[in-house]
Amino acid sequence: MIRVRTGLGAAALAAITVLGVAALPNGAAVAGDTGLRGAARGTGVKIGTAVDMNALANDAAYKEAVAAEFNTVTPENVMKWSEVEPTQGTYNWGPADDLINFARRNGQAVRGHTLVWHSQLPSWINETDFTKAQLRDLLRRHIFAEAGHFKGKIWAWDVVNEPLNEDGTLRDTIWLRALGPGYIADAFRWAHQADPSAILFINDYNAEWLSPKTDAYYQLVKDLRHQGVPVQGFGMQGHLGIQYGLPGDVLENVRRFDALGVKTAFTEVDVRMILPTDQYRTQAQAEGFGLMLRACLLVKNCISYTVWGFTDKYNWVPGVFAGEGSATPMDEQLQPKPAYDTLRETFLLAR
Ligand code: G3I
Repeated sequence: MIRVRTGLGAAALAAITVLGVAALPNGAAVAGDTGLRGAARGTGVKIGTAVDMNALANDAAYKEAVAAEFNTVTPENVMKWSEVEPTQGTYNWGPADDLINFARRNGQAVRGHTLVWHSQLPSWINETDFTKAQLRDLLRRHIFAEAGHFKGKIWAWDVVNEPLNEDGTLRDTIWLRALGPGYIADAFRWAHQADPSAILFINDYNAEWLSPKTDAYYQLVKDLRHQGVPVQGFGMQGHLGIQYGLPGDVLENVRRFDALGVKTAFTEVDVRMILPTDQYRTQAQAEGFGLMLRACLLVKNCISYTVWGFTDKYNWVPGVFAGEGSATPMDEQLQPKPAYDTLRETFLLAR
């Protein structure tokens, strides 16, 4: 496998990085393999999507596209604690097992999401007055139960999700309050014991820029690895809004984590906009998707680029950001937008 740091791939990518998408000659790079998955072949970067399991079960066109376009998949919700253990001691592995089996049939790697988070916890955790010791035991049991259940079937786990605030301080969560700052290291050690084969990531949003938040992640990852804690990857979710500008220093940010010797990944990419869309906004969106993919392709150990849903037909953004949307590379009819073409051409140029 020839990664893109040398020869035409690197030069072409460097040119795009400087000149932007517009530099690509029409159609020149569109030969051979179909879809995003085909275009990514041989680049060393897997292309993925978050999967809505209801849509996968009930929408044939969606299901076909998930199989054809992506070589890695992430469950959008069905591996979260509230979904896998809705009542204490009763596990609901079914929907997640369905994704594992779908991925196996389609030769896709599975990113597990997520073992430790302050959100989407089962109500019995938030509504019960557990002691600190009980919460510690519950967290440990959960990690061994879930990572153990999927042992050997998960390529990479988001072990701890969104533990820091924007200023780089530790987020005040039930886990920080109960277990103290050491909960992050404990979670990684337990996850590694439960499944030594999975690549273990710490994952967050607003982690694409050089900022107090990513400075803190840089130091945290460095310190934890120095202590022998198996933090093996840094995940940048990549939720952008064109109205806030794009992370022009993302390559520099990814490179410093690469220099730490950890894997990196873009784990939940979408680029939303204030509606209605227009040609300028969709072009800015395409540049947003392309900028992060180029950064990934130009860095030695960036291993995957996952969009958080590939079609506007099934997307979380409108439900959270009123008046915003159109955040994915395909429209509601699963037709490609300029962002899709940019992703495909950027992969092809990197081969
Ligand atoms: O499962 C229940 C269902 O039983 C109930 O009938 C229905 C009606 O309320 O809600 C369903 O739960 C919803 C769940 O998605 C599954 O569809 C929750 O209300 C809804 O809040 C939840 O939204 C998810 C959100 O995380 C929750 O925080 C989004 O789909 C998902 O895209 C989003 O993903 C997160 C990542 O995990 C972490 N990073 C940010 C990203 C976007 O917020």
